[in-house]
Amino acid sequence: MASTSSSPPADVVPHIIDLLSENPSVAAPGETKLPLKHIPGDYGLPFIGAIKDRLGFFYNPGQDEFFKSKIQKYESTVIRTNMPPGPFIASNPKAKVIALLDGKSFPVLFDVSKVEKRDVLTGTYTPSTDLTGGYRVLSYLDPSEPKHAKLKQLVFFLLKWSRDKVFPVFEACYTGLFETLDKQVAENGKSSFDPPSEQAAFNFLTLAFFGSNPADTKLGVDGPSLINKWLLFQLHPVLSLGLPKYLDDLLLHTFRLPAFLVKKDYKTLYDFFYDSSGFAQDEAEKMGLSREEACHNLLFATCFNAFGGIKVFFPIMVKWMPLMKSVVYEALRIEPPVPYQYGKAKRDLLIESHDAVYEVKEGEMLFGFQPFATKDPKIFERAEEFVPDRFKGEAGEKLLKYLLWSNGPETENTTVGNKQCAGKDFVVLVSWLFVAQLFKRYDTFEIELGEAPSGAAPAVTITSLKRASI
Ligand code: HEM
Repeated sequence: MASTSSSPPADVVPHIIDLLSENPSVAAPGETKLPLKHIPGDYGLPFIGAIKDRLGFFYNPGQDEFFKSKIQKYESTVIRTNMPPGPFIASNPKAKVIALLDGKSFPVLFDVSKVEKRDVLTGTYTPSTDLTGGYRVLSYLDPSEPKHAKLKQLVFFLLKWSRDKVFPVFEACYTGLFETLDKQVAENGKSSFDPPSEQAAFNFLTLAFFGSNPADTKLGVDGPSLINKWLLFQLHPVLSLGLPKYLDDLLLHTFRLPAFLVKKDYKTLYDFFYDSSGFAQDEAEKMGLSREEACHNLLFATCFNAFGGIKVFFPIMVKWMPLMKSVVYEALRIEPPVPYQYGKAKRDLLIESHDAVYEVKEGEMLFGFQPFATKDPKIFERAEEFVPDRFKGEAGEKLLKYLLWSNGPETENTTVGNKQCAGKDFVVLVSWLFVAQLFKRYDTFEIELGEAPSGAAPAVTITSLKRASI
């Protein structure tokens, strides 16, 4: 599997310049040689334009072609468009975004001095706080909000606390997963990967973070199904379930599913987390947080951030596989598990793509479609191809700054002052462990890939497993 990866061109270092208000043309003299362009694209007629873009994004032609055809039409990788859900979930002006569709303009979304990350996690709508115990949890806070640093510190505390348990607990839970797969493939000739993989992920996370085994509590094996339902109530406006087009659109994207329908399930999860996380609640109290707010945040970090992320990413790894460390990075590059990022301009800005500079006004909503940044052919050679050793060696390491899955470059650190994934290093570590376990156990395996609706994890079915000969 020979492949090469080249160093990036020197001129693609992300570069954003402030706009001096009086005279944009002299905003940053000498800092850019690129022409200043108006941002092309249009939002269409009120209401109709938003629905048209929504149908284009989800169904026909689907998200990749939707953006590719706009790039071609407007000859620009920075364009104006509507993003789902639009009416009636997001009020119309809120559907309007400036889409950043290359690897140079995208990183403006990481600069929290320039973009506001308040209530933009899911884009142009915000799920009801009834789904999170009445609290705006960490992921929805801008770092300028005082609670952000405290709550992120609490997640760092949890990750530190789990340090010694990660390896043994991972081995135990994922051995359990592979035993289930072996048994089902032996009995039925195939096995769906996702349900046993989600059970392993949930057991692993609760054992590592809280030392608590759900099977020994009232929760039993219900964790993943309760979380999946709760996640659906938060994310349905930006998901498709692969139902017939108009039914799918009507059910998921037009009205909010009422939070009370999932209240009981959330309470069951909350009780489990409340009983399991006493030590972390003590720590939160020392930081001036209430035990209750801490617990809703611990639940969200574990079930939404960590479980939600692993649920999407591990099937992606099985889908792309061959070799270890670089492979994990390459899988994160070619199919970032969280592909959409948003931020609202804190002030007037100039944003550079590779070939032009664009003026963005304070308050405008920016949307980055990450696969177009991490498969940018001006940054990565053979960008559409899975190149297992792309990130290997010295030349490969130089490319890590263009790997953005964690809501920041791989070469930077998550801090209480930024919005980078708190679990960044944890995720890479457990993904390596996952690949290592897989290869320790099997010489080869085969999979069948089902249709995966937009925003969902790939539907992987294991069809054959050959145990390792040594
Ligand atoms: C494959 C797994 C994961 C993926 C793909 C992932 C991805 C991300 C991304 C893209 C963001 C930024 C979202 C945004 O603001 O636009 C984020 C934030 C966050 N992630 Fe992860 N994550 C994963 C696992 C984890 C784990 C294991 C934890 C540990 C508890 C974690 C905790 C967090 C937290 C607390 C935030 C919010 C950070 C802040 O608001 O400053 N994540 N994650």
